[in-house]
Formats: sequence, structure tokens, C-alpha cells
Amino acid sequence: MSFDSPSFAGARAYRERALKTLCFGVSSTPRGRQVPAPIVADRARGAHIWDSDGNRYIDYSAGYGPLILGHSPACVINAVKDELDRGLRTASVHAGEAQLAELVCDTMPCAEKCAFVSSGSEAVHLAMRVARASTGRTQILKFRGNYHGWFDSIHAAGSVGNDGPSTLGQDLNALKSLTFVDWGDIETVRRTLTGDFAAVILEPIAVNGGCFMPAPGFIEELRELTRALGVVLIFDEVITGYRLSLGGAQQVLGVTPDIAVIGKAMGGGLPIGGVVGSDAVMEPLSSGRLLHRGTFNGNPVSVGAAVGCITYLAQHADDIYPRIDAMSADLAQHIRQSAAAHGVTCAVNQTGSAVQIAMGIAEMPTLADAAKADFNATRQFTGHLLERGVQVIGRGLMYLTAAHEPGDIAETKVAFDGAFAAMARETNV
Ligand SMILES: Cc1ncc(COP(=O)(O)O)c(C=O)c1O
Repeated sequence: MSFDSPSFAGARAYRERALKTLCFGVSSTPRGRQVPAPIVADRARGAHIWDSDGNRYIDYSAGYGPLILGHSPACVINAVKDELDRGLRTASVHAGEAQLAELVCDTMPCAEKCAFVSSGSEAVHLAMRVARASTGRTQILKFRGNYHGWFDSIHAAGSVGNDGPSTLGQDLNALKSLTFVDWGDIETVRRTLTGDFAAVILEPIAVNGGCFMPAPGFIEELRELTRALGVVLIFDEVITGYRLSLGGAQQVLGVTPDIAVIGKAMGGGLPIGGVVGSDAVMEPLSSGRLLHRGTFNGNPVSVGAAVGCITYLAQHADDIYPRIDAMSADLAQHIRQSAAAHGVTCAVNQTGSAVQIAMGIAEMPTLADAAKADFNATRQFTGHLLERGVQVIGRGLMYLTAAHEPGDIAETKVAFDGAFAAMARETNV
């Protein structure tokens, strides 16, 4: 197969058609950048996805994270069917909301109160508003390279060395309420953070940007500094919540924030987000003083899916998380060895069930190293994988799920070997 192979003819034809009426041919820009062509998902089951050309892929994009149980877990599908049978009841109060809040409070260490929205971006937006309402302050400290969704209030400093907005059309005034620091740089936080700040927000384990664990002491000291100054500590656990462990990164790291933002994996594939935190910090929301608006917030279908997903994860956590983590470590190790054997320079980071590959650099211990990767080569490499039946996110990020089995991993290793051989051939011509 090659990049202009007939295997992607249907995908190319679809793209041409879609571009005529649908902006960039997709509903979220990164999806349109898949090479050799954005595949058109026809159906999916477990760890596998089939496109409209009839190709079958082992899927590591996992819906950009949510599909912790794979594409068709019975606990989610049955919950959704059950909700549909009972009528959509959109924007009604329904018993599932409190049930979900109870489940989240049982599983997330910081959660005493919850509020639900429809996406991670909305949840981040609401969390910052809660922090401002509960402190009466405005400024927020954000770390470069951490991603917290696409809203103007936070969509900036997306990579090390760039403190600007992350896309065209953003309100630059909104960014004046943000102060940027390098992730992990506790010295600068110590010098910068004052009692004038409302919040510090961060990905405590930085999956975006390259899959990084924090250096020992970083998160602990952030906790101490924020507590001493009355600054709200917000963990963005939109990726890590229910993915790295049942209690998210805060459970893995043993540090409890004031607020956590959750989304993605909690819904098992349906759109949902949440702001969860201590009684004290959530008071403006709990009392109704802070308006929490949104027609689709807590809709029964998404809430039912989240109840089904979290209930299942809670019942099987002791099996699921160690198993996915071990598969991920094994696959990451194979990728490193295969790259070396083929003479291809490729860094591989792994945190739990997230694996990041980056071409053109041998190692990426920090976000600054990750910024030096050859992004075009990484994207090209993901095309070689796609041709060999393996789908990963175009920037080289892979999510393993509970649906991946040893046979999938073995097949994936063969695909990586072939893709590295192809990269080596291209580099040498
Ligand atoms: C850490 C983090 N926070 C927030 C978001 C935004 O979530 P959503 O895409 O559901 O709006 C994302 C999305 O990738 C994310 O990775």
C-alpha cells in the first residue's frame, strides 16, 4: 500500500464532497489533518474501527481519549439505549444527575460537590469562574504547553516559547487575566504567585504536549503554595480522570486539589464534562449565587452513559488499570527498540495508558524537548501506521483501552516495525 493507494479512495472522495459545504470537511480541525486522508468511520467495536473503504484498524485514537472501555462497551451502550427508551427528557431534572454526582464523589478524592456540563472546555470555563467567585480575584496562572480547551479565556501558550493565543480570532483582552509559567518550574511559580491570584490551573500529569509525569515535589509544593495564599488549585483531569486510575491523577500523585475538571473518559464516549471540588470552593455554585447555565448540561443520555461507565470502571478497576498500563509499557518499549533497530530517531514517552511518539528527537524528558520534535515527520509516520492497519492521533499520541487485547498489541508491533522500515527507506533516498 502507498499514500495514494486505492485503499483510501473513498476517504478522498468523501473529503472532496465534504469540503464543498462543511468547513475544513470536519467538525474539529485536527481530524482534517489525518494522513494519507481523514478516514471516514463507518462502524466500530471494541478496539477496532472500520472505515467506509472497508479497511479495519486497531484504534489508538480512542475518540481522542474518552473510549477508555473501547468503542462499544455494553455498560455504556445499554445505558444509552435505556435512556433513549425513556424519552430524551432534555433539560429536565432527572434522578441520574444525583446518581452520577454520588459516583463521582465516591471515586474522585477532591469531590464533595459536582456540577455537570457537556464538554471539557465548558468545564474548564466554569471551574475558572468558580475560582474567581470563591476568591473575589481574577488572575489565573497557567502552564505553557498544557491544553485546557478552546475557549478564549484559556486557549493560549499552547507550547513552550509561544505565549500568544492559540488560534485566529481570539479575544486578546481575555488573555490579560492569564500569567504563563513553564510546567514544572516551581522556582518561577514561587516568585510569581501572590495572594492576588484566583487560581493555578494545570494538567498534573501532562498528557498533552508529550506525556510527562511531574518531577518529585512539584505538585506537592504547588499544593502548599496555593493553600498558603488562598489560591484555588485546579487540576485539569479531562484526560487523566478515569483514565490513569479511578481517582485520576490526584489519586496517582496523592495530592488533592480544590477543584478538578473532568470529561472524556467519564462518559465512555458520550459528551459530558464536570467541575468537582470541595464544599468550600464550590459554595458559589452550590448556593446558586453563581449562575450555571446550559440547555444540555446533565442531559439524561450523557449522564446515563457516565453512570454506566464509572460504575463498570469502579467494579473492575483492580483489573483494568494495571492491565492497560502494562500493555502500554510493553508497547512503548517495543516502539523504542524498533525505532533503534531501524535507525530512526524517535522519542517515546508513556504515562499509564497514554503513549506519545515524536520523530526527530531521541528523548523528550521535558515539554521544551517535545517542542523540538519534527511534527511533519511524526504525522507522516502516523500515515505509515494507518496504511498498516493502526490508527493513532496525528500528533503521535496513542491511548490504550480496556478493549485492546494481546493479539492487538502483537499486530500493532508488526505495524510499527513496518512503519519504521518505511521511514528509514524515505530518509535514505
Ligand atoms: C486536558 C484537557 N482539558 C480540556 C480539554 C477540552 O475538552 P473538550 O475537547 O471536551 O472540550 C481537553 C481536550 O482535549 C484536554 O485534553
